[in-house]
Amino acid sequence: MNEIDWDKYAQEYDRICHANPYYLELMSKIRSDLVSYMDVNKSLHFADYGAGTGNLAMIISNEFKSSIIDCYEFNQSFLDLFNEKAQQQNNIMIHKLDLITEKLPQEKYDCGVMVHVLNVLPDQDIALKNIYDSLRPGAFFFVADIGKPINVLKWSLKICFYNLKKNGFMDTINLIRSTRNARLQNKIVSKLQKKGLIKMHSMDTFKNLLQAHRFNVLYSSTEYYDKIDNYCIARKV
Ligand SMILES: C[S@@+](CC[C@H](N)C(=O)[O-])C[C@H]1O[C@@H](n2cnc3c(N)ncnc32)[C@H](O)[C@@H]1O
Repeated sequence: MNEIDWDKYAQEYDRICHANPYYLELMSKIRSDLVSYMDVNKSLHFADYGAGTGNLAMIISNEFKSSIIDCYEFNQSFLDLFNEKAQQQNNIMIHKLDLITEKLPQEKYDCGVMVHVLNVLPDQDIALKNIYDSLRPGAFFFVADIGKPINVLKWSLKICFYNLKKNGFMDTINLIRSTRNARLQNKIVSKLQKKGLIKMHSMDTFKNLLQAHRFNVLYSSTEYYDKIDNYCIARKV
C-alpha cells in the first residue's frame, strides 16, 4: 500500500501502542489464548507475520521460553526498532521479508500469529497462501484484522484519556506532540478504508476468506479494538 509511510509510522508506533488501551487489551487476550491453546513447556516453532516492532513476539518469547519465534517484517525502520528491542531475547529470529513477493519456509511452524497486517496488504490471497504453506498440518493461526474504518478522533481521545490517567498531564502533552506522524498515517489509513482501497471484512466474510484458504476457524470474536477487529483462532486442516 504505497500511500502509507511505514518509516514515519514506525518511529512513533510503540509510543502510541503502549498508550492504546485497545491494543493492550488485544495483546493481553492473544497472550492468554496462546497460553491456553499451545503447550508452554514444549519446544515449538512460532511465526509472526508482519511483526512490526515485535510487541507480540516479545510476549511469546517470554511465555514460551523453550520455543523459537521467527518474525517476518518488510520495513527497515520497523526492523531496526525491533532488533534493538530483542537484543536480549535469544529465542527471537528477525527476518526481512515481503509477505507478497517472497516465499516463507514450507511447513515449518506449529503456530502463526498476525495482527493488523492482512488489511494493509495489496493481495490478501497471496499472503494467506504463503502463510498456509508455511504452517505444519494441524498448526494454529491466531489472526486479528481491522474490519471497519477507524475513527481517528475517537481513538486519539481514548488514547489521551487513558494516558492522562496512567502517566499524567505532562506526559500526555508529550505523547500528543511526539505522535503527529502516527496520527497522520492513521488518517491516511482511514481515508483508504473509506475509499475502499483497503479491503475490509465483516466477521462472516473474514471467516469465509480463512475457510477458502483451508483454515478451520475454531474461535472468533469482534469484541476487541472497540469492536472493529475481527479476531480468529484457526487451524490448518
Ligand atoms: C499496523 S502494523 C502491525 C504490526 C504488528 N503486527 C503489531 O501488531 O504491532 C502493520 C505491519 O505490517 C508490515 N507490513 C506491511 N506490508 C507488509 C508486507 N508486504 N510484508 C511484510 N510486512 C508488511 C508493516 O511494515 C507493519 O510493521
